[in-house]
Parts: sequence; structure tokens; C-alpha cells
Amino acid sequence: MKNYEKQIQALLSKMTPEEKIGQLQQCGPSLVGAFDVSFDELLNMMFDGRITKEEFDRLMGTAEQDFHEDDLRAGKIGSYNGIGDSATANRLQKIAVEETRLGIPLLFGYDVIHGFRTVTPIPLAESCAWEPALWEKTGRVAAKEATAAGVHLTFAPMVDVAKDARWGRVSEGAGEDVLLNGDYGAAKVKGFQGDDLAKEDAMAACLKHFAAYGAGEAGRDYNRVDLSMQRLWEEYMPSYKACIDAGARAIMPAFNDINGVPCTVNSWLLRDILREKWGFNGLVISDSNAIAECVSHGIAKDKRDAAKQALLAGMDMDMSSNSYVECLKELVESGEVPEHVLDGAAADVLRVKFELGLFDNPYQTNEERESLCLLTEEARSIAREAAVKSMVLLKNENQILPLKSDARIGIFGSLAADKGQMTGAWAIGARPEDCVSIVEACEARGVSYQYSEDGKDMLKIAASSDVLVAAVGEMKEESGEAASRADITLSREHLALVRDLLATGKPVVVVLFNGRPLAIPELAKHAPAILEAWHLGVEAGPAILEVLFGDVNPSGKLTTTFPAATGQCPMYYAHINTGRPGGKSKFTSKYLDAPVEPVYPFGYGLSYTTFAYGDLKAEKKEDAVRVSVSVSNTGERDGEEIVQCYVQDVAAKRVRPVRQLKGYEKVFLKAGETKEAVFTIPLEELSYYDWDMNKVDCEGILRIYVGGDSRAELMEEITL
Ligand code: BGC
Repeated sequence: MKNYEKQIQALLSKMTPEEKIGQLQQCGPSLVGAFDVSFDELLNMMFDGRITKEEFDRLMGTAEQDFHEDDLRAGKIGSYNGIGDSATANRLQKIAVEETRLGIPLLFGYDVIHGFRTVTPIPLAESCAWEPALWEKTGRVAAKEATAAGVHLTFAPMVDVAKDARWGRVSEGAGEDVLLNGDYGAAKVKGFQGDDLAKEDAMAACLKHFAAYGAGEAGRDYNRVDLSMQRLWEEYMPSYKACIDAGARAIMPAFNDINGVPCTVNSWLLRDILREKWGFNGLVISDSNAIAECVSHGIAKDKRDAAKQALLAGMDMDMSSNSYVECLKELVESGEVPEHVLDGAAADVLRVKFELGLFDNPYQTNEERESLCLLTEEARSIAREAAVKSMVLLKNENQILPLKSDARIGIFGSLAADKGQMTGAWAIGARPEDCVSIVEACEARGVSYQYSEDGKDMLKIAASSDVLVAAVGEMKEESGEAASRADITLSREHLALVRDLLATGKPVVVVLFNGRPLAIPELAKHAPAILEAWHLGVEAGPAILEVLFGDVNPSGKLTTTFPAATGQCPMYYAHINTGRPGGKSKFTSKYLDAPVEPVYPFGYGLSYTTFAYGDLKAEKKEDAVRVSVSVSNTGERDGEEIVQCYVQDVAAKRVRPVRQLKGYEKVFLKAGETKEAVFTIPLEELSYYDWDMNKVDCEGILRIYVGGDSRAELMEEITL
């Protein structure tokens, strides 16, 4: 990366403290209209029933956006969040470049989480493809579209390891495993940033939420995090580090505290680790309003105190809380915050603006480019590919699937036709009309189908159908931010619909739409076929039909465990054994009213063919363990298998997980074909932290398991 330090210092020397503080300010447009409360309060009023949805919509109809242009002209704004159209972005950029004293360009940030206009599967779904090349490709699509709409920086990837299915934001990351989250995040960073950040179609990645946001107590959003240092470093930190190593230029500290200190004001995290140990010199942006919220945390006595602590801790940019613009000037003047600390923060903002090429070319797009780049055929076909690869076939009794091309289908459930629901959480650039539902896809494909949203005419439809499809699961509002659930079972209505369909005696295929693992023991027992479709984005309908009709052979594998009951959460494969591993006898670690095993384990997923494993070999070679295994397609159809390699350190200085994923590879096998899969695991990746936080080598017996899911039985032992 080109070095801009001279230009940065030259610019800083011309800037007043107010102008430097201005660079640290990120705000969004405010909504103003025929209401005299803030937009947030208006939303609350609708949610708690003080106004009806209709009244809310009527008031919103009167709303206009206030972009705070006067503040912008005065050099008090360095960045905007949430502006996703090139005309507005360029209009504001012109003010920054032509009407402010120093003409410093603006930085536009946006939550491009899984596609901008061409919405691709939610990250949790896409992670089930176990395919870094795909993750990078969809990241590239997102960057091309978002930059065409004026975006310079995305608040993604989220690489928070998420072991608790109650947490709504499991939908935004790559599931419960730290290796997968790191690989997923690194691939996204490459996709978003491309090979040169200064190119017009490259956007900076802001990885988040640093650190351990996914470890919130009881899966409740924004909740406290209390972790041993060993756990933090082994199970959470590596995925953030992988993104930094991949070159991410921005990072967002998490809302939560870690062991009592909120990440927003945690100088150990933001200075000692991030900058000193990891060498990061990019931009640190607070989460929304997080600086001011340090008062509620009980770590700052007021906003001024919070601003002081955050800046000193290494927080460069204030998203939405106005703490810096309101308080920093006085804090610098009084000497409570040294000016060189302010300079350091402003330098981090300017560095990323230089790297993005904004000083040379502040207008990186225009309306023409925008109109050409959004929702192209190429983008749609990549979204379709991602959707197909994200689905996980959970059950397929008596080979109900794939369906015959002339099968007559009865389709039930609102999710089969509700286009707006296909996007899932966090898709703010999405338009419902861009999405294709199952019902529309049936129409386009000429499938013989009948559809009933609410189960009306069920018996009549069933009588004239060969197979019934139930589209059930979660609405998109039921996962994502601020969407934790205390009960992760299927809703009563959806369960009743499936029961009624099963009672007709016709074969039933359940298609699940959801943003988190669901506890579905009853479905797993009684429904003959279950396809996990998650929230797949604009191409949901056609992609689902491709799998149901067998145009493609499903290959996705779960990146998150499906518990049998909510009370088992957090439930994850890489747990430790305890002295009394759960088993048949009473005095073992388990619940009286739930099974020991999950309904579907991590790594699990079926295919329309079958695979067999054999000839597992493992040996130590210099500084790595080399593992090889043969994988055969023993069925009648070509297919892809995601081969997984797990290890267990049998006796160590600290208790170690029963299994840890150390390698995976997607292998294509023609029917009857056999191939060898090879994994090289550096010894460094087997090391761990002892009681005193020293990194120690894995010694003694290492068990290596290879297979098609985390319960793989094929095992080889070696001694290190
Ligand atoms: C979320 C972030 C997001 C930010 C900006 C916050 O509430 O926690 O993940 O990037 O809003 O929209």
C-alpha cells in the first residue's frame, strides 16, 4: 500500500483543532417532518402501540432528510453513514470539496452486509457453502454495486463467532467456528477491497464487532461478555486477526464490554492489541451511538467523560453520538486530551481517504455508472450460484427429493410468495420487487402447482398433488440486530401448518426460511424431507427450485449446530468434555428433558448422492501434520462433498475441545469416482494458551477425525 504519511502530516499542519474534530464525526441524515419527536422515538411509538402503523406511514410520508449541510460547510463532518445513492453523495461531496476551507473529501459508509441491491444470501447461509472463492466473488459484486451508488466503506464483514442460537445476529456471520469465520471474513475483505483500494469499484472493509460481541451472556443482544483470556484468544480473536491480516482498512469496536471494560473505551483492545501487537494503522469507527452509551454502561459519568475515554483509548471516529463534536474541543483546550492524540485519530481518517483515492478523485461515480451497475445479469447469476450453494439438505427420507420434473406440487405458507421476506435481515439497499419467490419461480418454470397462503383448501389441493411443500420458519425481522429470541422453536402457526400437511398423508417437503438455527425436533422426526434455505436473497425462489427438482445436487453443510431445545443454548460442537460427558447414566452433564446430542450437528448436510471415506493417514512432517484421506462418491449422481478435518488434543495442560475444525475442502466427485483430500495443519495452529497465558505446543496424542460432519468417526492417532 502506498505511503501517504507526508501528505497527511502536511494537511494536519494546516488544520485547526475544530477541523480535526470534524474529520472524526460521522453522522447520518436526520429525518424531519410533521412530527415533533426524533425518528427513533417515532419508531418506538409505533413498536409500543402509541401510534398505528398507518399513522406512522402517514407521518413518514411527510418526512424529509436533513443532511446537516451547514455543519458540513463549517468542516464539522468527516463522514456520512447510510447514503446509498450517487446523486446525494456527489451533492454532499461537492460541498465538502468546494465549500469547506480545506476541501477534504467526505467518506461515505454504509451497511453492505450481504449485497447492496443484488441481495445475496445472509452470511450465515453463505458460510454453509464452505467456499472462500464464492465469498470473495459475492463480496466483489457488493463492492461494484455499492461503490457505483457512492459508497466508500462497508460496515462488514461481521466475524463474531456465534455459539448461541438465541442471538439474532448469528445471521450476520459465518456461524460458530472460529476458523470458518476467519476464512469467511478474509475472503470478504479481499472481495470488498479488490486488488487496489484506489480503484473506483473498491470499498474499504470495516470488520466488526471487535471483540467477542457474539459471546453476549444468554444470547441477548448488547449484553455483557465475560470470558477467560484463554477463551478470548483461542475462540474469538483469531477471526478478527484474519481480517486484519487480509488487509481490512477499518474496524468497529463492539457494543459489549469485555471483562468489565466496554470495547468502545478499551485501550488494551484498541491500542495494545490492535495497533501495537497487530500493527493496524487503519480507521477505528465506533458502533452507532456507542460512545455516548458508555454513560449507560456505567463507565463514564457524562458524554464529555465518554468522549475523553474513547479518544484516549484509540477510537478514531464517532458514529452518530455527537460526543466528539460536542466535547473534544474543550477537552483538548483544557489539556485533558493531548493534541497529538487528536492528530493521531484525524490521521487515521485521512489515511483511509488517501488510500481510497478520494483526494485525487472525490467523485468516484455518477448516476450513469450507478444505473449500469445495479442488479446486472451477471450479479443475479452470482446471487443464484451463492443461493444454491448455501442451502443445506437436512433430511430426505425415501428419496422424496429430487422431485420429478412433472410432479404436481401443493405449496403452502406465506413465505412461499412473500418477495420482501426473501432478503433476510440487514438488506437496506434491497427492493422487494427485485426478489423472486418460490411461487413466482414455479410460474416462470412452468411447474404444475397450486398455492395456498394460509392452508385454505388444503385437502382439495393435497388430493390433486403428488407432493406438498411447506414454506415455514422465521420472518426476516426475527433475526439480525436487536432480534434475540428466548424461544427458538417454530411458531405455533407454522408448526400447525406442517402437522396438518403431514396429516393429509401426502409426502411433505419442509423448506425452512430462517436467520438462525431453529429447535425443530418434531419436524426432524416426522417431516420426510427438510431443506434449509435460510434467507437467500433476490434469487431465492429459482435457486430453491433448482435444488428441489435436482438441477443441482445440494452440497451445503451447517456452520452452526441445531439444538433440540432452546434450553440447550449455547450448544456448539467444539465444547469441552467435562469430567462427566453427557451420556446414558444419570450423573453426567446433560438435561433431564433434552437429548445430549443436537438435532443436526455442525458440519452436517446431505446430498442426492452418498459418500464414503477411507484410508485415513496422518503423519508429522517438519512443522506440520499432514493428513490424507480418500473420498468416494458411492451413489448414482455426481456431487460435491465438503470434507472436514478435526483434531482433539487428548491430554493437555488445559482442557481442550472435543473437536476443533482445522481444515476443509470441497471436492467434486463424479458418480463412482474416488479422490484423495489432503490437509496440512501447521503445528502452530495446534498450540494453545496455558494457565499463565503462555503459548504452548500440542504434545502427546493427537486424534484426527475426517469425514462429512463434526461427528465423523474415521480416526487416526499420532503422537507429537
Ligand atoms: C450495528 C452495526 C452497524 C451500525 C451502523 C449498529 O447498530 O451494531 O453493526 O454497522 O449500526 O448502521
